Amino acid sequence: MAGPQVLRNTAELAAWRDAAAGPVRFVPTMGNLHDGHVALIDAAREAGGRVLVSIFVNPTQFGPDEDFDRYPRTVDEDLARLAGRCDAVWLPAIDDLYPLGPDAGFSVHVSESLGGILCGAHRPGHFDGVANVVLRLFHRVRPDAAVFGEKDFQQLTILRRMVEDFGLGIEMIGRPTVREADGLAMSSRNRYLTERERAVAPGLHATLLELARRARTLPEDAPAGTFSALAQSGKERLDAMGFDTEYVEFRDARSLGPPAGHPLRLLAAARLGGARLIDNVAISPQARR
Ligand code: PAF
Repeated sequence: MAGPQVLRNTAELAAWRDAAAGPVRFVPTMGNLHDGHVALIDAAREAGGRVLVSIFVNPTQFGPDEDFDRYPRTVDEDLARLAGRCDAVWLPAIDDLYPLGPDAGFSVHVSESLGGILCGAHRPGHFDGVANVVLRLFHRVRPDAAVFGEKDFQQLTILRRMVEDFGLGIEMIGRPTVREADGLAMSSRNRYLTERERAVAPGLHATLLELARRARTLPEDAPAGTFSALAQSGKERLDAMGFDTEYVEFRDARSLGPPAGHPLRLLAAARLGGARLIDNVAISPQARR
């Protein structure tokens, strides 16, 4: 099957962008593509128009002690996997996205109420890095729609708000998390798990499902403290399984603020050996009846 057109710099991207009329659907990635990415790309294709995938491991969203250097870079396998699935793949170099240098140019800042909570409280600056690279990608690609996974629900929420706040006019399409048969959310970081840790890892999703089941039995007007206590019991359960749990929290699904009504989202992050795993589940009003 024919591979996608490979665009190696901004000039090639611009030429591809202007070569045809019609909508462009965009799937930004950091590569090491798995079935979760494929689902995003398939959603972009279903939306019609031309589909562009970018692969760029963005340094500004990694903290100094994080896994930027060892993050899996598998471009040849990724290009083979993309054959027949998208029209073009953009492989920007650092200068294409940060012409003044990643630390020397301009930047946007995500408000503390969105970017400083949940994962942001444990990864300072992470969502500023994500917002900065996605804004730069969007300005260069000028897509009509962009597709992101719900696995990083906080990222999706922040990027939706960014598009709204800057009036970018890009349709933001969120797609459900793709899971392994045992429930573990697919992630490039799952490869950091040892065999023993891999056997424990599905416990994260199983715990969230159990907490969600119990949350659905609570009355509509249950006080916030009830949700905190339930979340705390989940954290203790995960720690007992061998996770080093960063947080388990019920949040308002739209604002990510404290649970103040419905729908809710239950979100968690936990370290297991050398991997940091994130997951979340929806708790919809319908599901609570
Ligand atoms: O979700 C990711 O893979 C990255 O955070 C993204 C959106 C491609 C930005 O680097």
